[in-house]
Amino acid sequence: MFSLLGMGALARGVYAASLSHIDTFYPTGLNYTSYITNSYLGTYGGIYNAPANQLTEGSPYGVYNYCSMPHPRIQEYELPSVKEAKIVYLEYLQRHQRRTMYNLAPGGENQPFDCSTIDAYLYSASPQAGNDPVLVYADVYTDPNNPFMDALPYVNTSCMFPQLTLGGLLDGFQHGKDLWAVYGEKLGIIPKEPSNKVWLRSTSSPLTQQSAGGVLRGIWPEWKGSLPLRQQSSGVDTINNGYPCNARNNILDAIEATDDWNEHLNVTADLRATLGAMLGATSSAWQKSFDHFSDNFQARLCNGYALPCSFTNHSNCVTVEQAEEVFRAGDWEWQFYWRRSPQVIQYIQAVGGLFIGEIVGRLQAVLDGKQEYIYAHTFLHDNDLGPILGAFGIDIMRWPAMGSNIAIEIWETTAEQPHKAPTTIYYARVLYSGHPIKTIYGTLNWIELGELISILQVYVPEDIISLCGTT
Ligand SMILES: *[C@@H]1O[C@H](CO)[C@@H](O)[C@H](O)[C@H]1NC(C)=O
Ligand SMILES: *[C@@H]1O[C@H](CO)[C@@H](O)[C@H](O)[C@H]1NC(C)=O
Ligand SMILES: *[C@@H]1O[C@H](CO)[C@@H](O)[C@H](O)[C@H]1NC(C)=O
Ligand SMILES: *[C@@H]1O[C@H](CO)[C@@H](O)[C@H](O)[C@H]1NC(C)=O
Repeated sequence: MFSLLGMGALARGVYAASLSHIDTFYPTGLNYTSYITNSYLGTYGGIYNAPANQLTEGSPYGVYNYCSMPHPRIQEYELPSVKEAKIVYLEYLQRHQRRTMYNLAPGGENQPFDCSTIDAYLYSASPQAGNDPVLVYADVYTDPNNPFMDALPYVNTSCMFPQLTLGGLLDGFQHGKDLWAVYGEKLGIIPKEPSNKVWLRSTSSPLTQQSAGGVLRGIWPEWKGSLPLRQQSSGVDTINNGYPCNARNNILDAIEATDDWNEHLNVTADLRATLGAMLGATSSAWQKSFDHFSDNFQARLCNGYALPCSFTNHSNCVTVEQAEEVFRAGDWEWQFYWRRSPQVIQYIQAVGGLFIGEIVGRLQAVLDGKQEYIYAHTFLHDNDLGPILGAFGIDIMRWPAMGSNIAIEIWETTAEQPHKAPTTIYYARVLYSGHPIKTIYGTLNWIELGELISILQVYVPEDIISLCGTT
């Protein structure tokens, strides 16, 4: 058993040691359920722990790290081999940084999650109000006299789940600082101060806004003012499943009715039954996929906590081997949702198609010489990155982890032609969490922008309203 979950000393087994950093992004065998059941694979070189209230260690750089994915960093960043190329546009997408869980164990959490080290601010202000508001923040507590405390699984916590943790905020600062060193200081595409050439956006979920505050401070440490973070209205938001779409659920049902899906449930029946009994997690929401188990375990491990134990028997705990199998199953599921299922094109269109269309629109504007922005940065969720990675045709997709990021760099070259005016040709390079992304179209480290647009265009639905069946 070679595990990267446990203590540092256990961290590099023989198996993982044979993998290069980029290999850890692309597990061979992820198309097969034997990947899930083969305990020898451990975490396939992935890292699943980080300290509470401290920065995630940045080394070894470039490895799949669920708690804090690598991002472009000056020490490792390589310029394109075409020397005279000049970067003219950066489209940056990222998942929020590490956080508390969405899914508390229904049987009760044996370790309370503590958020007293971080303050989640929320207030409204107006230049017309004549005064600044008090900068209030949420200070969450549980009242023992609340009658629901006995009726529901008791969780004594100071967190508003799934809020960002202090570790996540610190990771955000570092993420931004590293982006600045590459794209600001070295390449000059991120301006010294936020300007009208910068487009910043998040989902309507506080978690993504909390991450934005951290990352943007890392980018602009001296900036004194506030910043607008664009958001679409939550009823029609093109990210974070923000618009109504019956097809999304119907397609998911069809995916989860395939033989492949059932096979993965079959081979994990014992694991799911054991964890279900231990954590009171026997409902279909917990049993139909590994989403909830994975979410609960990684939120703990990525913030300095241990794996959970039964609320009623504190010596009955989730083992490292069980957690690793849960994570392998989660990765298998993501590869299936976004790359392998028979419904994959429709599913990407229904979940991510509108946002992919927005990205295509921005890239097309660069191609047409009409782009007014030079840098767009969107803070979103794993469920937004999955369809985009699928649209790129990523070779193998593990779960896009905390702080996962896609940098679409657009470079301008000028081709001299005899007896003619020189022509401008735009090339794209796509980095996934710091590495040029490996896809069914090859490694996207230098591709004509028009070609990249054609790859993505397939996933932009012609008529989302009728695709979604929402009228
Ligand atoms: C909840 O946890 C806090 C902090 O650990 C503790 O002071 C408090 O007594 C606990 N409340 C209950 C009702 O157990
Ligand atoms: C899964 O197990 C059930 C019950 O044992 C069986 O009926 C079904 O054929 C299996 N499905 C697959 C795809 O292995
Ligand atoms: C508590 O869990 C441990 C470990 O699984 C088990 O050996 C023990 O029998 C359990 N105790 C009770 C009272 O169920
Ligand atoms: C895994 O499945 C994807 C999607 O069908 C395919 O493109 C890829 O070649 C497969 N890889 C292997 C090793 O079978």
